[in-house]
Amino acid sequence: MSTLFFYTRQQFFNFKSAQTVAGFEFLSMSKLLSSQRIDGLDSDQQYFVDISSLAGFVKTNDFQLLNFEQLFGSFGENITFICDKVYETDIRYLFRYVFDDFSDIEVENEDVPVENGEKPISQTKSVKKITDLNDSELDSFFENFDARLYGHERFKEEFKGLVNSFRVFNKLGEHKILSLFLMGDSGVGKTEVARSIHKALGSKAKLAKINFGNYSSHDALNSLIGSPLGYIGSDGGELLKRVNESDIGLILIDEFEKADNAVFNYFLDVLENGKIVNSQADEYDVSGYIIVFTSNITKENFKSKISPELRSRFDYKGVFNLLTDEDKKKFVHFRVNQIISKYTELVSNDLPEKLHDIIVSEIDVSQYKNMRDLNKKIKDTFVIHLKSRRKN
Ligand SMILES: Nc1ncnc2c1ncn2[C@@H]1O[C@H](COP(=O)(O)OP(=O)(O)OP(=O)(O)O)[C@@H](O)[C@H]1O
Ligand SMILES: [Mg+2]
Repeated sequence: MSTLFFYTRQQFFNFKSAQTVAGFEFLSMSKLLSSQRIDGLDSDQQYFVDISSLAGFVKTNDFQLLNFEQLFGSFGENITFICDKVYETDIRYLFRYVFDDFSDIEVENEDVPVENGEKPISQTKSVKKITDLNDSELDSFFENFDARLYGHERFKEEFKGLVNSFRVFNKLGEHKILSLFLMGDSGVGKTEVARSIHKALGSKAKLAKINFGNYSSHDALNSLIGSPLGYIGSDGGELLKRVNESDIGLILIDEFEKADNAVFNYFLDVLENGKIVNSQADEYDVSGYIIVFTSNITKENFKSKISPELRSRFDYKGVFNLLTDEDKKKFVHFRVNQIISKYTELVSNDLPEKLHDIIVSEIDVSQYKNMRDLNKKIKDTFVIHLKSRRKN
C-alpha cells in the first residue's frame, strides 16, 4: 500500500531536517530521473522522493502518464513519496491509480522558523512585469517606449490598449501572457519593439532572447527545453536558462517561422498555461509576461505556416510597414546626436563645427528601407568628416 504525503511550504524545511536526522535521504523526482539514480538506490536506505516537479510536466505531457504509472510500481518499500500541497488537486487526480492513499505529513514544532539558505521548491526571484507597474510607472513606461521606437503609430496605440486590458484580466486569471506576433521587412523595428520594452521596463540584465534562425530545425524543441527526460547529459534547455538570467517579464522569440511543429505546439501550451516546463520538469511561472515573436514571413505565408489554434492565441498579429521619410529623419537626428555625444565623451571634443547639420543634410533617407543600412550610412558619413578634418 503506497501513500503520497503532502507538505506545505512552511513545513518543508523543518520536516526535512527532522527526517534527515532520523536517517532519511531526500531526492527530487527530476534529479532521480535525470541522473538515472533509480538503479543506484540503496535498498537499505530510506528515501523521501519529492514528485512536485511532475505536476506541471504530466499535466502538459499526459502521454507520459503511462510511463510514470509503470515507473512508480517499480519502487521498493524503502521509498516514501512526498509532494508540495499546492499541487494537491492535480496530483490526486493524475495519479489516482498510482497511489492507494493521500495524506498530509505530520511535523512537530510547526512554529520553528524556516531555515534560510535552502532553495525553496518554487521560484521566488523577483521579476519586474508590466502587470506589476502602478499607474504612474505605466505612464512613464509608455512615454519611454514611444520615444525609443520610431514610427509604427498604429501599433503603439493598439499596444497600449492591449497592455491596459492585459493588466486587468491577468489579475483575474483569464489572460496569462501578452503575445505579440510581428511580421514585416528586415530592419523596420520588429526586434526593436522587444529591446524598447526591455529598456522601458528598466532592465539591468540581458534580454531573454531565443533565435530560431540559430537552431537546426529537427531538434529545435530539444535545444529549447532540453533533451527527453532521463537522457544522460541533457540540460534544462535554452529557454529556462535565458528566462532565469533576465530580471523582467519579457521574452523575445526571433525568426519564429524557422521553428517546427513541435515547437509551435509547445508555445501553444505556454501561451495557454502561463508556464514554462522543460524536459526535466522544472517549472517556471511566466504569467504576466510579454512574449514578442518576430518573423519575416508575409501575411499570406503566416496562414500556411502557423496553425489556426496558435494564430488565434496571439493577442496582436500585424505587419510592420516601412518607416516614413519623416520617421527616418527623426532616427537620423537621434543617431547623429548620439554618436557625437559618445565621441565627445570617450575620444575627443575636437569635432568639425555644425557636424550634426552637415551629416543630416548629406543623407537622403528616401534611399533607405532597412534602418540597419541607414545606420551604416550615418556611421560612414561621420567617419568621412572625421578624416577630412584630419587632412585640413
Ligand atoms: N522603428 C524603429 N525605431 C527605432 N529604431 C529602429 C526602428 N527600426 C529599426 N531601427 C534600428 O534598426 C536596427 C534594426 O532594427 P530591428 O533589429 O528591429 O530589425 P527587424 O525588423 O527585427 O529586422 P530583421 O527581420 O532583419 O530582424 C535596430 O537596431 C534599430 O537601431
Ligand atoms: Mg529582428
